[in-house]
Amino acid sequence: MLYKKPFSIRVKIVRVKKMTDCQGDREGTDSPMELYERLNLQGDNVRALKTAKADKADLDAAVQLLLKLKVDYKQMTGQDYKAGCPPSENTAVPNNGPAADCADGEDSVDPWNVSTTNAKGVDYDKLIVRFGSSKVEKELVDRIEKVSGQKPHRFLRRGIFFSHRDMNQVLDAYEKHKSFYLYTGRGPSSEAMHVGHLIPFIFTKWLQDVFDIPLVIQLTDDEKYLWKDLTVEECHRFAVENAKDIIACGFDVNKTFIFSDLDYMGASPDFYRNVVKIQKHVTFNQVKGIFGFTDSDCIGKISFPAIQAAPSFSNSFPQIFGGRKDIQCLIPCAIDQDPYFRMTRDVAPRIGYPKPALLHSTFFPALQGAQTKMSASDANSSIFLTDTPKQIKNKINKHAFSGGKDTVEEHRKHGGNADVDVSFMYLTFFLEDDEQLEKIRQDYTSGALLTGELKKILIETLQPMISQHQERRKQVTDETIKQFMTPRPLNFNN
Ligand code: TRP
Repeated sequence: MLYKKPFSIRVKIVRVKKMTDCQGDREGTDSPMELYERLNLQGDNVRALKTAKADKADLDAAVQLLLKLKVDYKQMTGQDYKAGCPPSENTAVPNNGPAADCADGEDSVDPWNVSTTNAKGVDYDKLIVRFGSSKVEKELVDRIEKVSGQKPHRFLRRGIFFSHRDMNQVLDAYEKHKSFYLYTGRGPSSEAMHVGHLIPFIFTKWLQDVFDIPLVIQLTDDEKYLWKDLTVEECHRFAVENAKDIIACGFDVNKTFIFSDLDYMGASPDFYRNVVKIQKHVTFNQVKGIFGFTDSDCIGKISFPAIQAAPSFSNSFPQIFGGRKDIQCLIPCAIDQDPYFRMTRDVAPRIGYPKPALLHSTFFPALQGAQTKMSASDANSSIFLTDTPKQIKNKINKHAFSGGKDTVEEHRKHGGNADVDVSFMYLTFFLEDDEQLEKIRQDYTSGALLTGELKKILIETLQPMISQHQERRKQVTDETIKQFMTPRPLNFNN
């Protein structure tokens, strides 16, 4: 199960241990990001010492070091240190709240763990402040509409892709006929993909269509081998199986390259060159700070972030971009992947590449409620892409958390709560018609629509969607997979 290691606890252990580290190994060659990470750690150390009522001399020494780091930081960046607001991204956040806001401690979000105690789900506005990204405001959605000439995707209209980095810069360039490319990925941890896994791919396909640009999709079979109890062969097989589901989303074979790390890393000198450049510019301290790695994590995990970063740079794909390193990358992904790309953006200018832009999505909630995301390792928390119409119906009726009242009478009288109702949440992802969705919300809230009726609408939305997916997946032959997964030129005008 994915959620067994709450991030906050893991980080605390690391950070307390780090105390001597921070004092001991100062090299004087920190980047702003590195200094920022040290400050985060030292702030935590001071808090830990206070909580533990530590010796006054120790506490004073830790506070002195914290102050010194703050002075260094101000000198280096010209800005005051603020927890939750990394240096290179500071300008992207118009209204940073006070630092205390950033350290809310309630929601836990990292690439391996998502949980919150709030039934409405993670507080995404707070996450934007904590991660230092920018909110996708209505102006940006309007601008995407204007530049692409297409009605914005429902994921944009409904705040599902809610956060971004540098989207305006990508659009500025695009308007001046400077193209960009898309990069997204998937960690193939099993054969079974669920509907939540489709979100980034559905959206990426839309971006590919409306902007008419190439796309690379990384299948991190190496990552899953390092993190899970699986063999290299199993992970690679899952990568190929998952590629079928991804292809079934309708990507244009002339504009899409899908690759398994286990295959492509060994076959592409250019990709590996970027990996080592990134590795040279990230310290162990940084990955500890960003990802919570500990001294007992295997070294494969510690260096893996460089592998997820490398596709953000166009010269990792010479067959597609002919060795050019200046083509900007846009990464649509769920917000839990952001730590990888904060690191990537910090490194990019230091190795002479443009920073990738990002569009972040919210999580797809588990059937049981928005406290966690849907997980492939729990059959009852997910609707799988292989489920039959009957399974879909039963799972929704049996497990989808309801915001309705206990009895029909009470429901009619007081109405239901759409904000915590999982069936309603799923409809916001999959029901295309805005007016119909709004009417459902109103009727549910007023009590005119009962939970059973709401679930029926969802069942009737998902059943055809998933059968059509299954039909398209069946059409994907070995030959098609080979085509998508062969390094080759893509249609690209720039
Ligand atoms: N680490 C991701 C996962 O476990 C897979 C991934 C690799 C990815 N590169 C990406 C996801 C780029 C989004 C964007 O699912």
